[in-house]
Amino acid sequence: MAAAEHQWPEDADGRVPYWVYTDKDVYQKELEKIWYGPHWLYAALECEIPNPGDYKTTTLGEKPVIVVRDEDGEVRVVENRCAHRGLKLCQNRHGNESDFVCPYHQWSFDLKGNLLGVPFRRGVKGQGGMPKDFDPKENGLNKLNVEVVNGVVWASFDHNLPPFREYVGERFWKHYTRVYDGRKLELLGYNRQHIPGNWKLMQENIKDPYHAGLLHVFFVTFGLFRADQKSAVDIDDEGRNAILISRKGEKEQNEVTGDLRQFQSDLQLSDPRILDVVHEFPGEETVGMITMFPSVILQQQTNSLSTRQIVPKGPGGFDFHWTHWTYADDTEEMKLRRTRQANLFGPAGLVSADDGEVIEFAQQGFAASEEQAAVVTMGGREKDPTDHMVTEAAIRGMYGYWRKVMGYE
Ligand SMILES: [Fe+2]
Repeated sequence: MAAAEHQWPEDADGRVPYWVYTDKDVYQKELEKIWYGPHWLYAALECEIPNPGDYKTTTLGEKPVIVVRDEDGEVRVVENRCAHRGLKLCQNRHGNESDFVCPYHQWSFDLKGNLLGVPFRRGVKGQGGMPKDFDPKENGLNKLNVEVVNGVVWASFDHNLPPFREYVGERFWKHYTRVYDGRKLELLGYNRQHIPGNWKLMQENIKDPYHAGLLHVFFVTFGLFRADQKSAVDIDDEGRNAILISRKGEKEQNEVTGDLRQFQSDLQLSDPRILDVVHEFPGEETVGMITMFPSVILQQQTNSLSTRQIVPKGPGGFDFHWTHWTYADDTEEMKLRRTRQANLFGPAGLVSADDGEVIEFAQQGFAASEEQAAVVTMGGREKDPTDHMVTEAAIRGMYGYWRKVMGYE
């Protein structure tokens, strides 16, 4: 069915039709309107490319890009696609180069993406070569809009969107700078996985505090995230970005655990250092999970700090790139603590393995029923911030924004 033929269900804020996850035309339109549209996309941590010439390759939407520090120390993001015949120029994940040379015909580009050289540009023995009016300035790599914000590299294909702080708004700027406060960051390591489900399901997962205290036996058992804990969901004015805020509780049995089929109060960790949690951020909260639409989740779960980048791969799957980090001025003990706590996350994490699995089950469930719809009425039909967890308000907020951008109002 073509994208234009789809109708949004009548209960607009309470339903999400399954075709948003399955339809190829809808997905193509998402790439164009959302991923290549006016949104800041997560590209890298600045600490991954500390020196001039350092680069990393990644994918924004479906487009390969190079994130590189130029000779003046400035971070650039250029499309990883030769201006000549369209080849993916650079195949490495990381490296250091003084320029990028295409393997096919050796066109070369400087670290800012400008075309440096074209072999045989003036021909050989007076024959052939590029036309006289060929202008190297017009044949550089496609340069993205870039802003480095407290250690995170944000990029956009749109050159007219507002600066990051204005884009997220002052309320969200406060959430962002709670963890990304300007201190230097240091890389701890990576995980990568492919999840066979639509990319929006990952955004929904972290906009959905309702599941966290039910699906994640580990969270509930060890008191990290439970429905009876002091918590809140904040949503930006557009509905696109959200944060789940919560406070770690105790391992105890009460009315909440009575509803949980898997709760076992007698479970013990054989290595309790994985939960050697120390309080470090301002306020009482121990969890702040930010969903930045569409490309990333900024995770702060006790002392575990990660970015989780979403790389869509067609309507039915996405790659998930985890980057675990620490503050550069942390003690060795703190760095080790963050590394240990990272065992809760990533593809085989004690918590997040659950999410990968249910996202796959979701895609399997609705793949053949695209005119049916999901129910997202937990907590009402409002899309406003709340001070509890038993709500799907942030999912409704995201689809309110999605419909506006995609033209399904
Ligand atoms: Fe989860």
